[in-house]
Amino acid sequence: MNYQRTITLLPPPRIQFGAGCFEQFVVDYLATGYKKLFVVTLPQMVVQLAGDLEKLKSAGIKLAINRSVAGEPRFADFEKVLEEARQFGADSVAGIGGGSVLDVAKLVAAQLYNTQTTEEVKGIGNLKGRATYLACVPTTAGTGSEMSPNAIFLNEQDDKIGVISPYLVPDAAYIDPRLTITVPRAITAATGMDALAHCLEAYTNKWGHPVVDPVALEGVRLISRYLQRACDNGSDEEARSAVALGSMYGGMCLGPVNTTAAHALAYPLGTDYHLAHGLSVSLLLPAVMEFNLVAAPQRFAALAAAMGATDGGSEEENSREGVQIIRRLMQDCGLPGSLQEAGVKAESIPKMAADAMKVQRLLKNNIREVTQQDAEAIFRAAF
Ligand SMILES: [Fe+2]
Repeated sequence: MNYQRTITLLPPPRIQFGAGCFEQFVVDYLATGYKKLFVVTLPQMVVQLAGDLEKLKSAGIKLAINRSVAGEPRFADFEKVLEEARQFGADSVAGIGGGSVLDVAKLVAAQLYNTQTTEEVKGIGNLKGRATYLACVPTTAGTGSEMSPNAIFLNEQDDKIGVISPYLVPDAAYIDPRLTITVPRAITAATGMDALAHCLEAYTNKWGHPVVDPVALEGVRLISRYLQRACDNGSDEEARSAVALGSMYGGMCLGPVNTTAAHALAYPLGTDYHLAHGLSVSLLLPAVMEFNLVAAPQRFAALAAAMGATDGGSEEENSREGVQIIRRLMQDCGLPGSLQEAGVKAESIPKMAADAMKVQRLLKNNIREVTQQDAEAIFRAAF
């Protein structure tokens, strides 16, 4: 393991985790002195958090609430929300929702008083600053967006484009597992598998690092143990909390290490078939693990052990048991087990493999080089 390589962690300056901690957001926000809060959220959260939002209003805070973000956001959607925030004259922004809502809120906060165009900030490290206070409150567990410097959008050609910058890390993240209690089973399963993949792909990453490893491994342990319980009984607060913590750990890995081939190959499933991000990633995860495990059997065996595999064979055999545990978990959580089951057509595979090759930002992190032929083989194995 490479202790020589330097790694930089840039987490939000304030992270609060705990059942009911959304209340603290209200207290903290009032202490900031900001007066005009632009909230990006979901219709159901406006109802669920009515009492807390009322507290802000009665303390003299002007609120504008946008609830237009549905599904994976496009830059065009983002521009409309940004315009609304400008018209309102916001001095602060809060994102309260899933990954799409948080990504929009993050970029709105950054671009609100920025002279750079959206075009100029696309890509890695192009944003020059953020003048506006930003708080992120995830209501799924999760994308980990509240912890990361990433915001992902679709362009007009349906390509997924990242805006990646330390200025997208919020000033404060409030991770309140109680907010995830009402998330339906299918979304709990898909977002939970996404969070597990963030941890798993960080631990088996070409740029994996001892600073991040324990966080990634513990995230895998928590989610693999508790996700089914959270799916079977949404009100199980202990399971919801464990999965929310795993999701937070996954988010912590996204900035310094990020994901690998399962995320890269998942992109075309989102753009061509409109499958949810977490579902796309989980459908590819077992096949990507099988492709990668020969390159790092020790790492994959450690993952399998964290997921409760019996330590009965060689590292490679144990690694393969880890893959089976992931497959079983998907089944137990009610997720489709193959691309075919999810409605993907075999004839799309060559085009999807070609499109996935464009996601070098993530493929460069994969422990084994992935050629276009390899990508096709992985899609076929996941079919
Ligand atoms: Fe993800």
